[in-house]
Amino acid sequence: MALSLLLAAFTIIFLAYNIYQKLRFRLPPGPRPWPVVGNLYDIKPVRFRCFEEWAKTYGPILSVWFGPTLNVIVSTSELAKQVLKDKDPQLADRHRSPSAAKFSRGGKDLIWADYGPHYVKVRKLCTLELFSQKRLEALRPIREDEVTSMVESIYKDCTNPDNKGKALELRKYLGAVAFNNITRLAFGKRFVNSDGAIDEQGLEFKAIIANGNKIGASLGMAMHIPWLQWMFPYLGNELTKHEARRGRLTKAIMEEHSLACRRTGDAKHHFVAALFTLRDQFELSEDTIIGLLWDMIIAGMDTTAISVEWAMAELIKNPRVQQKAQEELDRIIGPDRLMTESNFPNLPYLQCVAKEALRLHPPTPLMLPHRANANVKIGGYDVPKDSSVNVNVWAIGRDPSVWKSPLDFRPERFIEEDVDMKGHDFRLLPFGAGRRVCPGAQLAINLVTSMLGHLLHHFTWAPSNGLRPEEIDMEEAPGQVTYMRTQLLAVPEPRLPSHLYKRVAVDM
Ligand code: HEM
Repeated sequence: MALSLLLAAFTIIFLAYNIYQKLRFRLPPGPRPWPVVGNLYDIKPVRFRCFEEWAKTYGPILSVWFGPTLNVIVSTSELAKQVLKDKDPQLADRHRSPSAAKFSRGGKDLIWADYGPHYVKVRKLCTLELFSQKRLEALRPIREDEVTSMVESIYKDCTNPDNKGKALELRKYLGAVAFNNITRLAFGKRFVNSDGAIDEQGLEFKAIIANGNKIGASLGMAMHIPWLQWMFPYLGNELTKHEARRGRLTKAIMEEHSLACRRTGDAKHHFVAALFTLRDQFELSEDTIIGLLWDMIIAGMDTTAISVEWAMAELIKNPRVQQKAQEELDRIIGPDRLMTESNFPNLPYLQCVAKEALRLHPPTPLMLPHRANANVKIGGYDVPKDSSVNVNVWAIGRDPSVWKSPLDFRPERFIEEDVDMKGHDFRLLPFGAGRRVCPGAQLAINLVTSMLGHLLHHFTWAPSNGLRPEEIDMEEAPGQVTYMRTQLLAVPEPRLPSHLYKRVAVDM
């Protein structure tokens, strides 16, 4: 009885609020929302595809109700420019779900911080210090170590007589590079030894990430309908426990770092070391340091591995492109040495392969949700204060009015026209644009290009036995980051002398 009354009350409030919004504002068109849940039940699991479909009916700027919150989704480059450039100052806040709010302590990190003095300070720290060209270069040996370690593992597995001609799950190897690279970059720690065994801290680290994902998934509807959260009384507890666990591990690692510093006096380049040094200058609280370190893990781990898996799927589906990239590698690097990042300027086609993969398969297809800090107009419609705004960069990357034969994987298009992908050209936005553009873009581009270059230089790739290239499943799994629905199985054939398959390990 009490529940029915509550539901009726909320339905009335919702309807009244909707009518008020409709009368007061000229909202973008969209599917009719239901009371309380809005459009949540109508949205198909792969959201960016669903929004692209709706855009065909309602137009390129959509109203979609996530419970009581209005989400405005734009899907043309012209509207993306309005969101990320013209109205950037009014749209640079973040919409925080209950779990994001808890983990970031109300936005004391970077990703979930609203645009304001704290954000400006932390962003400056990222631009000038954490992601400076100097640090990017200083951390290069770690990336090269991890990429060559990947090559060594693949070689070992594919030359093992038991595996002859068998397909490998590429995601496992790509995930290892992403994991080791990001933990070394952020924490200065490789939790996995050279035999592939993971230590106790590494296990705890992985368990924390898995638990964070589990909590996020279990929120379901309550993620978007705040008043439903009373139905999950245990959740507040879970979030607090999770956050405490994350804090404990991070503090233990920071403590180890400061002990090691006192013992050896060595200067290190990883983010823990940088944040320790800059703590006073930037007045960083412990919450901010912990938040920043985890931001890097959350934002920088899956995204790079996902990008390479999609790129490899395209290269296997398009043997012509694979061969052309290999011809370039053979011409510039040859069969007697390893590729390094310093070779990139001489490998334009390889760079275009990475770019083309990010055009067709951006790992965060709806970017991250921005939030309006004032009433603004986009595309002639009102976007009221506190609405969320998403840019469907996936749809923009496939828009036939912008791209010739958009569904073809044709890296040559970027040789014909050099299109920026770091936020200056609104046709290609895998890293977003404007104030909140991804600060790790260059690092990600280097790692993705390096992984692709090594995979192609060292091996020729074919589809899993019995599968024709055109039968590879190119559909996406649901989620905020977009994995392939069916993980890629591929058969590698080594193409260089065996001494070039050794890991180039560095201790830093
Ligand atoms: C291919 C890999 C990557 C892609 C496609 C990507 C894409 C993005 C996108 C679309 C955003 C949101 C932009 C917005 O809200 O407007 C973002 C934000 C962010 N990314 Fe990346 N990213 C990648 C890798 C990385 C890496 C390696 C790191 C760090 C190690 C990183 C750190 C961040 C951070 C901290 C933010 C939040 C920025 C803010 O809110 O101001 N990303 N990224």
